[in-house]
Amino acid sequence: MSKHTTLRRALLFMPGDSLRKIEKAIGLGVDSIVMDLEDGVAFSQKAAARRIVVQALQTLDFGRSERLVRMNPMGSELAEDDLRSTIVGRPDGYVLPKAEFAEQIEAVDEFLRLEEQARGWPAGQIKLLPIVETALGVMAVREIALASPRVDALLFGAEDLAGDMGAQRTPAGWEVFYARSAVVMAAKAYRVQAIDQVFFDLNNLAGFEAECRAGRQMAYDGKMVIHPRQVEIAQRIFAPSEEEIQAARRIIQAHDEAQAAGLGAFALDGRMVDRPVVRMAEQVVRKARAAGMMDDA
Ligand code: COA
Ligand code: MG
Repeated sequence: MSKHTTLRRALLFMPGDSLRKIEKAIGLGVDSIVMDLEDGVAFSQKAAARRIVVQALQTLDFGRSERLVRMNPMGSELAEDDLRSTIVGRPDGYVLPKAEFAEQIEAVDEFLRLEEQARGWPAGQIKLLPIVETALGVMAVREIALASPRVDALLFGAEDLAGDMGAQRTPAGWEVFYARSAVVMAAKAYRVQAIDQVFFDLNNLAGFEAECRAGRQMAYDGKMVIHPRQVEIAQRIFAPSEEEIQAARRIIQAHDEAQAAGLGAFALDGRMVDRPVVRMAEQVVRKARAAGMMDDA
């Protein structure tokens, strides 16, 4: 499990220079809103996008949605201006594209530490969400996860990775499968969330749903999404279903009874149940609770 309870089933991206899309996103009840300053924004629009993002942060009520800003790659001149100009809007966190070295993340961490101190904000509150999306990033995924206590989630970027490697994207996705696995493995090892790749075909909702399910089966906690119509599907698939919750509760109860009777392993509906099965059931219940789906919370 991750070290916190912020639910991030869907992270909706939109170009930071589109106030209209930021406003649209707010009405959707999406877990996280990511106002982009990087690749979704034309070079000529970078300054305008920073101004619009700050305006949105300072004037709009985001409701229960998390307010995130995706800056340009760390170490670039754009990145420094992104941070300096948007920090006044006090976002909940920054999404860090093309993360490759701990030092890059440490530098952002230090900038935020000084800003929080100078502005009288609680220390460490602003989160960092690095995107692993280059070959170097995949090799460094452990040090990226551990670079700062602010790191709250690892995001996996398949498209940029394929470009960086010179791989060809296919529907099955085997060309990025090692990396997609490595990111979720590191996230689970170091107790941060794992957020799965973008699905680009805006009109193929069945394909999108299938990719959400595959991500969930791999233990991803949520998915980056790029269109309002992807939000509901991702937020449904990345939360446990009613049937899963019921099944999990039965397993936990049967396990409690078995333990009381001195049994470690037992059979339920013709299937063997022992500790690993119970642990998976406990994960389902914890997720359901975080999603507000349990009335006994
Ligand atoms: N966030 C919020 N609202 C969005 C949205 C998004 N990501 N994508 C579309 N919408 C809105 C549109 O504004 C439109 O509403 P409107 O007609 O009232 O203005 C409505 O949803 C339907 O949009 P649609 O016409 O189907 O799409 P589009 O042609 O306007 O936009 C994209 C297509 C791909 C440009 C758009 O979905 C987008 O900007 N996605 C995010 C791109 C991005 O951030 N990339 C970088 C990260 S990977
Ligand atoms: Mg990218």
